[in-house]
Amino acid sequence: MSEARTDYAIKQDWSAYSEEEHAIWRLLFERQQRLLAGRACREYLDGLEGLGVAAGGIPDFRRLSDILDRATGWRIVAVPGLVPDDVFFAYLAARRFPSTCFIRRRDQLDYLQEPDVFHDIYGHVPMLMNPVFADYMQAYGQGGLKALRLGHLPRLARLYWYTVEFGLIATQEGLRIYGSGILSSAGESLYCLDDPQPHRLRFDLRRVMRTRYHIDRYQESYFVIDDFGQLFAATRPDFAPIYREIAVLPEIAAEAILPEDREYAAFQPPKKEGPRVSTARLGKKEGPRVSTARV
Ligand code: PHE
Ligand code: FE
Repeated sequence: MSEARTDYAIKQDWSAYSEEEHAIWRLLFERQQRLLAGRACREYLDGLEGLGVAAGGIPDFRRLSDILDRATGWRIVAVPGLVPDDVFFAYLAARRFPSTCFIRRRDQLDYLQEPDVFHDIYGHVPMLMNPVFADYMQAYGQGGLKALRLGHLPRLARLYWYTVEFGLIATQEGLRIYGSGILSSAGESLYCLDDPQPHRLRFDLRRVMRTRYHIDRYQESYFVIDDFGQLFAATRPDFAPIYREIAVLPEIAAEAILPEDREYAAFQPPKKEGPRVSTARLGKKEGPRVSTARV
């Protein structure tokens, strides 16, 4: 970490990755590719294809940044791990995505405390190829700097959690995943759509901002948007009065259901879209996720 400067940027040093590290990427990549057909949203799958992120191994950030930059003006900045909130928001506001470089070990395929390069690159970056989502992420960065100033970060962090990390989207074909925390988790990419247990609720800005979350287990509730235009429009208003309005209301437990909530049914993927893999086979219910809490 001796290379870290005040902006926390480091060199990815792509040539230093070992064959074992590339092999772990391939394992994770191939497993997710099988699961995400028919589960990830079209925008994500298009982004992944456009970036040419492949099974070959850990991608070179410079190559990805050049493609991403041409598409939406975003670039990837290598960082050593989670960076302070103000640094993180300033990067997003400047259309820079801070990505970790290290990859989890083979004995951590399903569980990791911190985001790694697979979560950041495979999970997040393809969504940034979508113009509307790219603008949403920049607006989030600007909103983050403002929430910090106003002292309302926990409420804004819930929005990030329930959209960027764990968001679902309703399509003609059924519910699909766009949240990066799910897209990079084998267990949760099945659980979030197929398991009868979690709530899948219609997205509502104030509801989301009031809802607590757990960082150490699969989500108890997911919030479903209709499209990215709706998400962008819902988050465009000035949050300052909304923060004040919500601050006096009680918080909502992660598993709670309110009378005004609208629930979506669990999704049954058609047989042709890849093999059915039971959640049980992928391991324990608790855990297989990365924790990306920013509060
Ligand atoms: N409109 C928000 C604000 O005024 C900014 C924001 C946009 C936050 C998009 C999150 C996502 O703070
Ligand atoms: Fe993340």
